Amino acid sequence: MFKVSIFGAGFVGAAAAQNLALSQIADVVLIDIDGGVAAGKALDLSQTGPVLNHSASLIGGADYEATRDSHIVVITAGIARKPGMSREDLLRINSTIVSGVAREAYKLSPNAIFIVVTNPLDVMTSLVQMETGLPPNKVIGMAGVLDSARLESFIAEYLQVSPLDVRAMVLGGHGDLMVPLRRHASVKGVPVSELIPAEELDKMMQRTVNGGAEIVALLKTGSAYFAPGASVVAMVKSILLDERRLLPCSVKPHGEYGLSDVYVGLPCIIGKNGLEKIVLIQLTAEEQEALRVSAQSIKTNTTQALSLLKPPVPTTTAPTEEEPSKAAEPVKADSGTAK
Ligand SMILES: NC(=O)c1ccc[n+]([C@@H]2O[C@H](COP(=O)([O-])OP(=O)(O)OC[C@H]3O[C@@H](n4cnc5c(N)ncnc54)[C@H](O)[C@@H]3O)[C@@H](O)[C@H]2O)c1
Repeated sequence: MFKVSIFGAGFVGAAAAQNLALSQIADVVLIDIDGGVAAGKALDLSQTGPVLNHSASLIGGADYEATRDSHIVVITAGIARKPGMSREDLLRINSTIVSGVAREAYKLSPNAIFIVVTNPLDVMTSLVQMETGLPPNKVIGMAGVLDSARLESFIAEYLQVSPLDVRAMVLGGHGDLMVPLRRHASVKGVPVSELIPAEELDKMMQRTVNGGAEIVALLKTGSAYFAPGASVVAMVKSILLDERRLLPCSVKPHGEYGLSDVYVGLPCIIGKNGLEKIVLIQLTAEEQEALRVSAQSIKTNTTQALSLLKPPVPTTTAPTEEEPSKAAEPVKADSGTAK
């Protein structure tokens, strides 16, 4: 049996664990800084087995040791932005949490493929790759599967067709600058532009970009978790079962689409090695430019995240020989390890 460890047993982590248990492809370890929450949710989920007919093992706690030799590590640990908290504060806190979790998880599961979920997604995925030193094909961010599912569900609802027959892709960063591809959206191969008036399609594209915010506004506290949890599992399955699905994921290109040195949503084949291949599709000049702008914004935010993780530079007294400078050493982010 495969083993999938999920760090962060909040809403998304628990939804992913539930879907994984139901898919019966892996045993699940839920880890949280609050070990009781992780243990309680794992116990609760394991008791769905007799009712929903699955036999997956689900355990939870705060001790990372239980995650040793995982095939896949999923990182959903982090905090949501609270009132009065600046975007920079959130970036610093989640960067520290995610880097620490990645570092400790990697020590116990150096052969695992890492799937990152914590926001800001593309930036956090980049940090995990840097922190673990894993080859980029083994560190992948989840966002495009979710954003595409949102667009697909809007199209299905409008046309009153099964969502199973709708296919669409959203590229770029997981934020306001995401790039929904309208020319590539289809219903069983029929381009949606032949089925839906342009102005209605425009509305669906915009609703997709605002998809997360729409749910936050309805929930008032917290953000989406059912579809994000399911999207994680689509990626896990494609890796563990070597399905080689074509999924939009946050990955690090090497010149594809004119991009490099950044994690950004692109069409990918996902299989047993993680990212098997970035698929090149024809983009219009407008789509290509939107992708470039989105990637540039992620680069800027990643640079900022890295600077926030750096030690503060001393401004007053110079270090003496008896008191060597701490600032000269790289500061380790708070490990975030809830052992
Ligand atoms: N990529 C996407 O498409 C997508 C979609 C939905 C949510 N998200 C993001 O996923 C993250 C999780 O969302 P959620 O709704 O589950 O949040 P949540 O607050 O319910 O869960 C986060 C969990 O992380 C835990 N945690 C915090 N610090 C930790 C540490 N150092 N070690 C272990 N666990 C730690 C918290 O205790 C909490 O249980 C958020 O950053 C959210 O913005 C991303």
